[in-house]
Amino acid sequence: MILVTGATGGIGRRVVRLLRQQEKPVKAFARLSSRYSELEHRGAEIFIGDLRREKDIQQACRGVEYIISTHGSGGDALSLDYRANIELIDQAKANGVKHFVFISVLGADRGYEDAPVFKAKRAVEKYLQASGVNYTILRPAGLASNLLTLAERFRETGLYLLIGDPKNRTSIVSTDDLAKIVVDSLTVEGAQNQTLAVGGPEILWRGDIPQIFGRIFNKEPVVINPPLFAIDGLRGALGLFDTQTQQALGTYRTLLANEFFCTKDEISNLESIFDFKLETLENFVRRYLAV
Ligand SMILES: NC(=O)c1ccc[n+]([C@@H]2O[C@H](COP(=O)([O-])OP(=O)(O)OC[C@H]3O[C@@H](n4cnc5c(N)ncnc54)[C@H](OP(=O)(O)O)[C@@H]3O)[C@@H](O)[C@H]2O)c1
Repeated sequence: MILVTGATGGIGRRVVRLLRQQEKPVKAFARLSSRYSELEHRGAEIFIGDLRREKDIQQACRGVEYIISTHGSGGDALSLDYRANIELIDQAKANGVKHFVFISVLGADRGYEDAPVFKAKRAVEKYLQASGVNYTILRPAGLASNLLTLAERFRETGLYLLIGDPKNRTSIVSTDDLAKIVVDSLTVEGAQNQTLAVGGPEILWRGDIPQIFGRIFNKEPVVINPPLFAIDGLRGALGLFDTQTQQALGTYRTLLANEFFCTKDEISNLESIFDFKLETLENFVRRYLAV
């Protein structure tokens, strides 16, 4: 049995689909409020719970042989990115789990002080590496699926909001490729006890993205490019009455202010370990939006 957390999210949903296509038994951890009927329809067992509750994690882990942690935190890095993953690793140990796949983030090891998600991911990485449980840690750059809503908006309006430096580099990864890598990590020899950067096949400037959309939808892009200090102003104002959102904006600012790309060597290493060619952002968007 394979436990998948974040099973209703961008990565998790695709992971469950792939595992079910291979007819593997899956336990999908989902909240009662989540949209899980598709997963149930595909034959996954739905475990209703909340990752903020230790007891739910302990119960979900009973009888599982593999754990895939893909959940996000929606602003509560301490409870979800940190505590829930530590409990999952403890339970993996207690239950003799054969392999644990953890979705971290590219740049987790750069020591960004003001980004709680990055700090939590790094602490979990270290805990997992020292746990004695077989693992694969994947550090993705930005996910292509996150850009689909922006692409649809672009199709209607031609507008693209780009906060910060358009010359910052990124390696947007196809979320379908990432899901395949997650699933293959359970069996591929070269992924055992590895920490791998995961990106798409090309290094893009953030400013290339509206150009790609322009090409796909045959529309001249109108790029709105506010400077980064617009976020700083918002954070300062929010800090007066909502510290959790202020902290979450710290992670968001870190993402906007820095470069998150994989080197050519990292990408060819990835393609060689998992034995397939990664798809480009343009291909991903064309596939989903049928153009
Ligand atoms: N998005 C990116 O560009 C990116 C880049 C690098 C790394 N990552 C990492 O990749 C992972 C997945 O990202 P994603 O974009 O696929 O996330 P996502 O679409 O936002 O999905 C988050 C998932 O976590 C679940 N979740 C949140 N709080 C929960 C709770 N209290 N109890 C149980 N489940 C809970 C959500 O359930 P509901 O359906 O109930 O909301 C959802 O299934 C995250 O760890 C993220 O940090 C993302």
